[in-house]
Amino acid sequence: MEKIPSIHTSTLGIDFGTSNSAVSWAQDGGLARLLPLEGQELSMPTAVFYNAEERRTHFGRDALAQYLAGTEGRLMRSLKSLLGSPLLLEKTEVNHQQISYQDIIATFLAELRQRAARALGAAPTRVVMGRPVHFVDDDPERDALAQRSLHEAALAVGFEQVSFQLEPMAAALDHERRLARESLVLVVDLGGGTSDFTVVRLGPQRMAQADRSADVLATSGVHIGGTDFDQKLSLEQVMPLLGFRHQGPQQREVPSRVFFDLATWHLIQWQYQPRAISQAQALRVNYADVQLHARLMAVLEHRHGHHMAHEVEQAKIRCSQQDRSTAIDLSIVEAGLHAPLQTADLQGHLAALLARTVACARDCVQRAGLRDGELDAIYLTGGSSALRPFQRALQVEFAGVAMVEGDLFGGVASGLAYSGAGMGP
Ligand SMILES: Nc1ncnc2c1ncn2[C@@H]1O[C@H](COP(=O)(O)OP(=O)(O)OP(=O)(O)O)[C@@H](O)[C@H]1O
Ligand SMILES: [Mg+2]
Repeated sequence: MEKIPSIHTSTLGIDFGTSNSAVSWAQDGGLARLLPLEGQELSMPTAVFYNAEERRTHFGRDALAQYLAGTEGRLMRSLKSLLGSPLLLEKTEVNHQQISYQDIIATFLAELRQRAARALGAAPTRVVMGRPVHFVDDDPERDALAQRSLHEAALAVGFEQVSFQLEPMAAALDHERRLARESLVLVVDLGGGTSDFTVVRLGPQRMAQADRSADVLATSGVHIGGTDFDQKLSLEQVMPLLGFRHQGPQQREVPSRVFFDLATWHLIQWQYQPRAISQAQALRVNYADVQLHARLMAVLEHRHGHHMAHEVEQAKIRCSQQDRSTAIDLSIVEAGLHAPLQTADLQGHLAALLARTVACARDCVQRAGLRDGELDAIYLTGGSSALRPFQRALQVEFAGVAMVEGDLFGGVASGLAYSGAGMGP
């Protein structure tokens, strides 16, 4: 293993995201620099692939490519969604070893630290990690447990000083660098797992202050993000092809649990365990059309779950970006199989989730005690903030307030490095 000296001054910012992670570095008073993580790429998918053929571990785009190419092995995604859950300590077998999901998170963080060290020429010992406003909704104990688990993972991989900053506040600190005058801003960070909001007073004169708590007027957050949109779209458009809502003998629907789990990024890998497979096998009697059941079994036995979720996600992004209907490619399951995704589906299926997200933004502004006319701007960050139906819903709620699109994938990490600058030696 390469020997890299440690750096004890200056701080690393790590945005450990549900879907993507980014790392940034700032020296006191200096500009934050996003560090290249995969080639020149400044963010990488939060994905780990345990290759069973070569017994090697792959990360990021490389992990996804290995999985999608059909290499034998296990893919781990949406690891952050397990923080605060009892599943975190559950062991799973990879390459003949029993490891917990907590260990897998530490493996991923160790890789981020090592890649940062390679870019910097030395291994940083201080880190500011991002955290959503709520890791877990309405459960302060599990929420605190989630942060503790992430803290322990950071210590386990060699960081000596670990602190936390709210992700939307970090995004605000990054945005502040580009402001010419004092502004009241609603910062919206819509990621893969959570939607986070903060109303904050930003401005060039305020940047130098070490303690910014007086500038934070309110925060709010809800556990809804892009992976929930993928789940919903999968349930509505894809899972019926495997038997979801299918009426079997006596007009009874097939029990739906397997479809929910198969549509949920962080639960997919459990469906491949022998017990889950035999439970799915037993569902055959609940089907009138046994071909649908055969399809479900093929998906489980050939472990196509992540691949299908990936196709749903890609179709969601295409449909949103092009504002045009598209098809979800399911040819991996069966030659020629696909599911339509129309712009009206995107809007309609996601309406309830988006309404809850927008309500959370409204709650934040209300708690800040502001009228909409007092907001100077809404600043958008996080991959899901680009979702067209979300932007439309937000603009309807906050009519007349200017929306500014920021750095969707790097803003939080940059802001984390800024919040670490001045932490002291
Ligand atoms: N153009 C787009 N339109 C809609 N959604 C998008 C687009 N690009 C990416 N996404 C979605 O954004 C999400 C990832 O965003 P991001 O990388 O900001 O999340 P994250 O930081 O990993 O998650 P979190 O902050 O919730 O932990 C994914 O669900 C992805 O499908
Ligand atoms: Mg994020």
